[in-house]
Amino acid sequence: MDLVTCTAPVNIAVIKYWGKRDEELILPINDSLSATLASEQMHAKTTVSISPNFTEDRIWLNGQEEAMANPRLVNCLREVKRRARESGQTPQTRLDWHIRICSANNFPTAAGLASSAAGYACLVYALCQLYGVKGDLSELARQGSGSACRSVLGGFVRWRMGSDAQGHDSLAHQVVGPEHWPDMRIIILVANDGQKKVPSSIGMKRSVGTSELLKFRAENTVPKRIEAMEKAVQDRDFATFAALAMKDSNEMHATCLDTTPPCVYMSSTSHQVSDLVHKINEHFGTPIVGYTFDAGPNACLFLLKEHVPLLVHLVRHYFPTSDTTFKGDPFRGRDFDVEISSGEGKFQSLESSMDMGTNPDALKYAIYTKVGLGPEVLTNTSDHLLDELGNPK
Ligand code: DP6
Repeated sequence: MDLVTCTAPVNIAVIKYWGKRDEELILPINDSLSATLASEQMHAKTTVSISPNFTEDRIWLNGQEEAMANPRLVNCLREVKRRARESGQTPQTRLDWHIRICSANNFPTAAGLASSAAGYACLVYALCQLYGVKGDLSELARQGSGSACRSVLGGFVRWRMGSDAQGHDSLAHQVVGPEHWPDMRIIILVANDGQKKVPSSIGMKRSVGTSELLKFRAENTVPKRIEAMEKAVQDRDFATFAALAMKDSNEMHATCLDTTPPCVYMSSTSHQVSDLVHKINEHFGTPIVGYTFDAGPNACLFLLKEHVPLLVHLVRHYFPTSDTTFKGDPFRGRDFDVEISSGEGKFQSLESSMDMGTNPDALKYAIYTKVGLGPEVLTNTSDHLLDELGNPK
């Protein structure tokens, strides 16, 4: 039996992918740019195993056995095997053995955070390790989920849409590594919102079919904005970075509202968070915090390390939680990083200038993280999710 275990990170786009020109190959209508988040706080972990003794392919996701018939999963597996066959690295007999896949996230799936990017990046990375496939993996991961192609790399990553009909040039490239902007921090505010959202693949298909604004965005605004964003990242120009990220998020959600029927992803809590960010930035006279929202109500905030205590203070003040498990703290009292708690109490005067009401229990919790590395192989036996017989542990 051969077995490989890997982790892959989550990524958050600051210039959004929204809309495909080819549904089957998952080819986008514009370039996008994202930050890969550190795996310590959030990652997908996947063990893949092949054996001549397995009689069928099987997959377990977050503790549940699922059907292997999922077309995106089938596509990824087929394409990795095709590359392995072409490279001649793997004997055909090994490619014919049945496979077992077991995957889990280290963050609650109930949080509604896009987990498909980390999940498919992890699956493809693990399969490539198993079959000895080398080279660019973004084209393979893209066929599981578009945004997954950006999770095969660390740091800041740009997915170029390409022009090839077969998508061979629709690839992700690293703009800079995680070490480039060491003071960049990310805070994800998970909203307390049970509303069922339209999945992003359905939402974007609907937008492509009905929104003139989306066409305008893809052809006119994004091509210019993404160049400015890449430069802001290269130059570590936070004010420009934050302003562009907010603009792009708002434009994506505007195209969602321009869609028929409209896709409404931001909730009243999302708008309250956006309001708070704009008030903070107004107070400082320059953007010191930027937000972005994916296909859901959770806010992803970007800020520099020096401003973390201030933001944490304001989030605790305006979004108190009555969940006593963590003494009403959306950061769950976690003291994993002194950056969070240092400076508490210094910012009382700021509250009076904000002119905002508090929103008890609007947030479920908060995640504090930074920019991180791409996928990694885990070699410790205790890390494997499948035992020596290929069963979930
Ligand atoms: C809003 O990658 O989940 O997060 O390609 O259909 O799987 P599919 O869509 P997905 O879309 C992500 C959209 C987004 C923006 C982004 O990550 O760029």
